[in-house]
Amino acid sequence: MRRLVILVVFAAVATTALALASAMAAPDPAPAVEQIGDVQTVTPSEVEGKPNDVGDLVGRLHPALVHFPIAWLVGLAIIDFFGLVRRREEWQRAGIFVLAGTVLSLLPTAATGLLRAAHMPSDAATHALLVTHRALNFAVAGLVLAAFALRLWRRNSLAGRWRISYLVLLFAATGLVLVAADFGGRMVYGPDYLPW
Ligand code: HEM
Repeated sequence: MRRLVILVVFAAVATTALALASAMAAPDPAPAVEQIGDVQTVTPSEVEGKPNDVGDLVGRLHPALVHFPIAWLVGLAIIDFFGLVRRREEWQRAGIFVLAGTVLSLLPTAATGLLRAAHMPSDAATHALLVTHRALNFAVAGLVLAAFALRLWRRNSLAGRWRISYLVLLFAATGLVLVAADFGGRMVYGPDYLPW
């Protein structure tokens, strides 16, 4: 169990570091050629709108998968509110399983997102949305993994400051995933799709 906790803590730190690094060190995608128009190299199958290779095909599953971590996380926040804030024991037990489901749902979603990113238009507006979307989602994954590590480590004694720390991680991740999803939606439907 101790090794598992260390592994999850390591994964949480690594994802948070990735989120920070991708937000800070994103290369400026605006090559000189963009000044005369958005020029992009495309393959014949891309022209037809078909997947280019297996990575492209798998990446196209991202829009189908994104609903899962959002729904798991919002569900978890509700369940843990009743379990850990209102202290209902049966909800606390359910929360552990829903937390595991949340962690599992993040993995394919993040992986397909990374694959999909390689095939997105390279104009500056899309790139800016993509970098923010990616950084926020890595941060969400880091927060969820940290909450998971805390819950594994404390097992049945998630009380006092540990309970508060867990809830802060969880509610921060839930709020952040909604903001991150908004950036994802704007990439697909346009930056002005919603009025904010
Ligand atoms: C892991 C949690 C993630 C969630 C919950 C999430 C959520 C979303 C949502 C809601 C959309 C809009 C989909 C639509 O309306 O059709 C989207 C699109 C997108 N996301 Fe994510 N995303 C996640 C991770 C990532 C990561 C790590 C990347 C990597 C850069 C990424 C890249 C993209 C791309 C490229 C799109 C546009 C898809 C397209 O136009 O086909 N996502 N995401």
